[in-house]
Amino acid sequence: METLRIDKETRLLVLTGAGVSAESGIPTFRGGNGLWENHPVEKVASPEGFREDPSLVWRFYSQRRAGAAPCKPNPGHLAMAEWERKLGDRFLLATQNVDGLHRVAGSQRLVELHGNLFTTRCSRCEREPFEDRLAYPEGTVPLCGQCGGKLRPHIVWFGEALDERDLLRVGYFLDRKDTRLVFMAVGTSGAVWPAAGFVDGARELGGETWLVNADPADNAHRFHHFVQGRSGEVLPALVTID
Ligand code: APR
Repeated sequence: METLRIDKETRLLVLTGAGVSAESGIPTFRGGNGLWENHPVEKVASPEGFREDPSLVWRFYSQRRAGAAPCKPNPGHLAMAEWERKLGDRFLLATQNVDGLHRVAGSQRLVELHGNLFTTRCSRCEREPFEDRLAYPEGTVPLCGQCGGKLRPHIVWFGEALDERDLLRVGYFLDRKDTRLVFMAVGTSGAVWPAAGFVDGARELGGETWLVNADPADNAHRFHHFVQGRSGEVLPALVTID
């Protein structure tokens, strides 16, 4: 297997997707038929879906909470937490995953681009999003204790914009001039923007780009290096840090 050496003049940006959490037993998005209880996921995980049937959306997320709650970080998560410990501010991890496993594994320099499954916010008032691990009973739509509005999962739904602050944080890291850039995408099909475009940004900045994926994702050709394999097996041995 090709290996990646990170010296003192290099910074590393990692983007992870469902293929990393798959090693912890959490199903990927496009592995199946894209349906959940015969509903297209894009429909349920959307503002329109929430307006139409908020209790259906809460059933979907309550099931995902219940499914993800017992899952533990895998060797891939732990390897990336180790890279951060060795690289410090020369490392940044942007994840599309909402299961929180990177944080459990010890990652702190972390941007949760699509939100977090175990965080809830009010769909009406500006109260701060808050930790909420509850899998709500069937038919429940929890209401805000402050304004009475419907509570919603703190997830970026299809058709919603990512948090500008998250994108700025990734952009600043990409644009740094003090070190050489390496960008690595792990376990993502490259189907969803803007995360799917990070590789182009990295290449435009002269960065070296790596893809680690179980099978050749649609955007594999856009990377300088492609390491095919399971993330939990590949990552621990892939990177050596000076
Ligand atoms: N190791 C490495 N790669 C894997 C593994 C594994 N064990 N299992 C699956 N993969 C790869 C698949 O080959 C696929 O290319 O991980 C990728 C997962 O792709 P998706 O299911 O599309 O997940 P992701 O790319 O994270 O989806 C992005 O889409 O549905 C939205 O918001 C949701 O964050 C999600 C976004």
